Amino acid sequence: MEYPEGATPLSADEIVGLKHKHVTTRNELDQLEQANIQSGIEWLKRTRKKDMLNETFVRELHKQLFGDVWKWAGTFRRTEKNIGVDPLQIPEKLRMLLDDVRYWIANKTYSPEEIAVRFHHRLVSIHLFPNGNGRHARIMADALLTKVLEKKPIDWAGGHDLQAMGTRRKEYIAALRQADGGNYAPIFAFAGIANNERKS
Ligand SMILES: Nc1ncnc2c1ncn2[C@@H]1O[C@H](COP(=O)(O)OP(=O)(O)OP(=O)(O)O)[C@@H](O)[C@H]1O
Ligand SMILES: [Mg+2]
Repeated sequence: MEYPEGATPLSADEIVGLKHKHVTTRNELDQLEQANIQSGIEWLKRTRKKDMLNETFVRELHKQLFGDVWKWAGTFRRTEKNIGVDPLQIPEKLRMLLDDVRYWIANKTYSPEEIAVRFHHRLVSIHLFPNGNGRHARIMADALLTKVLEKKPIDWAGGHDLQAMGTRRKEYIAALRQADGGNYAPIFAFAGIANNERKS
């Protein structure tokens, strides 16, 4: 299968976890995942949970978004990928991130939108799962913004298809790479956070 730029290829044993054995094309898989994500988003809308900054919720959300398609949905990655920390460090890195986010919220270290974008970047950098990290972390950041911080979600796609290889995706991946190096300005601009809303 072909992958768009910045996507994480699956290992052979992860592909074995596909619940639909008839799938042969990327397009079929995309459609199955998309349908699953829709039902996961419906689940998210029904949950009132405001205490989402814990490992159980983070994993449960991934399971709701991808669990109809992948057996390993909601379970942490066990293999090395080109992005992300050593698989053995995932639980600890996630705990540190969730602690940081809680601290930023309590101390108003950054604006709500900045907190959500920083949270998103750190989540995809850890790369918790074998696949679906980008979509999970965008939905997770929006859930934090809307359900906890009571703000509008981020317009990640900006009227484009972020999954497809296009200029919007190129810009997104390039901005994440800048953030890897500590420069958050491009990803804030991408997410539509104006300069004067930034605290730094
Ligand atoms: N250099 C990078 N630093 C941090 N995160 C990155 C980098 N490159 C890619 N990513 C993130 O990894 C995601 C790809 O990982 P994965 O394939 O697990 O997610 P996905 O939801 O299947 O992908 P997508 O939604 O992008 O199609 C990208 O969407 C992006 O969020
Ligand atoms: Mg992917």
